[in-house]
Amino acid sequence: MRRIFSGIQPTGIPHLGNYLGAVRNWVTLQEGAECIYCVVDLHAITQPHDPKALAQATREMAAALIAAGIDPERSVLFHQSSVHAHVRLSWILECVARIGWLNRMTQFKDKAGKNRENVSCGLYTYPALMAADILAYRANAVPVGDDQRQHLELANDIAQKFNFDFCGEDPFFPVIEPVIFGPGARVMSLRDGSKKMSKSDTSEQSRISMTDDADAIALKIRRAKTDPEPLPSEPAGLEGRPEAANLVGIYAALADTDTAGVLRQFGGQGFGVFKPALSDLLVAKLSPIATETRRLLADPAALDALLRRGAEQARAIAEPIVDEAERLVGFLKL
Ligand code: AMP
Ligand code: TRP
Repeated sequence: MRRIFSGIQPTGIPHLGNYLGAVRNWVTLQEGAECIYCVVDLHAITQPHDPKALAQATREMAAALIAAGIDPERSVLFHQSSVHAHVRLSWILECVARIGWLNRMTQFKDKAGKNRENVSCGLYTYPALMAADILAYRANAVPVGDDQRQHLELANDIAQKFNFDFCGEDPFFPVIEPVIFGPGARVMSLRDGSKKMSKSDTSEQSRISMTDDADAIALKIRRAKTDPEPLPSEPAGLEGRPEAANLVGIYAALADTDTAGVLRQFGGQGFGVFKPALSDLLVAKLSPIATETRRLLADPAALDALLRRGAEQARAIAEPIVDEAERLVGFLKL
């Protein structure tokens, strides 16, 4: 049986990269499997954060997920700090993971930059907590954007070492399959086709937020960096044109087609034609989600009740698994 788990940081309202790379796929996967989705607020404090804003950012992310189509009746939706099993297992897995493995993580290197000696220990052990998120449910499929591939490989290394060290012939943790979907798996900045669209980019113009209104979307797309050439009629013609490739990729993901399909329609046209078409498509797809997000946020008590119930469901699955992991490690369980 497939059990799906994924997490997203409470960065407030998600951006288009989060939506196309992750959330949209989470919605689709609900059809055929047991799904568990988590707003990872423990991960959010690995870097400087505003304690006054975190709870609201957690609600905003939960609301946006529900608005995008995560159905709390069908999937388990909760926030990480409300289920202590994550932290309990995380400590065990930190003791299984090797320093050398963590040293290879490119996202740590990117986030720490030149400040390596001064970032939190939590930022360094972040991938062990991520492994614990997944393994506390013994989930075996994890939909994410392409940037998380390395963290999932590490989670598998940790799971296998745990199995080898503590489980004899009978592996306790499953193999985790990364689920990474085609166009949209890597949405780039609107200002620089070599950087991924990110919450941490200082330029608001670099990303589209899921609650941007039609005017904001049109302006950001109009200003998006491009080149003077018309669109090619074949995907090969996008090589060396990262900004053009990004906009075509976004269109393809939203229109549920592929790059070739978009170029069959727009090949030979300039950005004067393509950009307005892309804006219209973005508005059509995002505005119902924005409206629903606002409606959900207007009733925080109802939203909190949904999250509380999600946490209960999550605890019911994770607690016995983490109890068993503790027994395997050898703790005295009274
Ligand atoms: P984060 O906001 O870092 O917690 O990311 C949440 C999810 O969005 C993860 O599955 C990421 O892989 C995905 N994601 C973040 N940025 C992008 C992007 N620019 N393109 C595609 N997926 C992304
Ligand atoms: N690290 C992921 C990101 O930044 C978020 C995350 C935390 C996650 N725990 C997870 C994703 C478990 C998948 C499974 O996007």
